[in-house]
Amino acid sequence: MAEEDAQHYKLIFLGDQFVGKSSILNRFYQDKFEQDYQATIGLDFHSKNVTINGNAVRLLLYDTAGQEKFKSLIPMYIRDANIILVVYDITNKDSFTHTEHWVNETKDLKREDAIFVLVGNKTDLEENRVVQVKEAEDFATEKGFLFHEVSAKTGENVEELFNNKIFPEMARKYNIGDEEEDNGEPAKQNNGTENKGVKLNEGNTELRKKKGGCCGGGKNKKGKNEAPTNHEEEAAEGGQ
Ligand code: GTP
Ligand code: MG
Repeated sequence: MAEEDAQHYKLIFLGDQFVGKSSILNRFYQDKFEQDYQATIGLDFHSKNVTINGNAVRLLLYDTAGQEKFKSLIPMYIRDANIILVVYDITNKDSFTHTEHWVNETKDLKREDAIFVLVGNKTDLEENRVVQVKEAEDFATEKGFLFHEVSAKTGENVEELFNNKIFPEMARKYNIGDEEEDNGEPAKQNNGTENKGVKLNEGNTELRKKKGGCCGGGKNKKGKNEAPTNHEEEAAEGGQ
């Protein structure tokens, strides 16, 4: 399938400044980690091609800025996101408390078609942990979020976040089936256990910083489950 024909889905990172949104994205996007902090200004945009259940899928990765001054821009980016990741730092209680703002704001949108994930980052700093797994897990369950902890620094559980949590849920929710399904047979698994997933560094990646301009609505081979991705251009422009 030509790259431009791939179904595309918009994934957005939300959360406080310094929690590691850009670092998780970079670990996923190019398997890299920078110790030096470089605040995101407005919005960064990347895209990465992955394979889910044998289907080429393009992930549009929107990295928002945690700084307060950019906060008012964010709701318009969330509106048509398919996958919403709310990130906190397990060593920073405030960053966890503040997730409630985004959790409530995103849930208020009543987006039945979106996937919500609460992500605790910096598990390599276990000795400084102040947010307990159970507390975060309970909160996520209560709010209807998936939950996962990662370390962008070591890469621990970053692949698993995508391969074991996000992609299976995308396969289920957006009916991303395999070839058999297209031949009229039932899909072998739509619960992700057949999900081939993605290795870090796999596939073509592309960086289009702060400029969207890619994508109309995504649709699968059967033309169903159109992914609501209408405002990329507008959103990316808004972040400049
Ligand atoms: P804003 O763009 O300002 O919203 O911040 P951000 O959430 O994108 O945070 P960023 O990814 O820039 O990371 C902030 C700082 O935390 C940087 O110095 C990173 O190197 C560090 N950091 C990120 N992830 C980890 C991690 O898993 N472990 C450790 N020890 N440090 C991390
Ligand atoms: Mg950032």
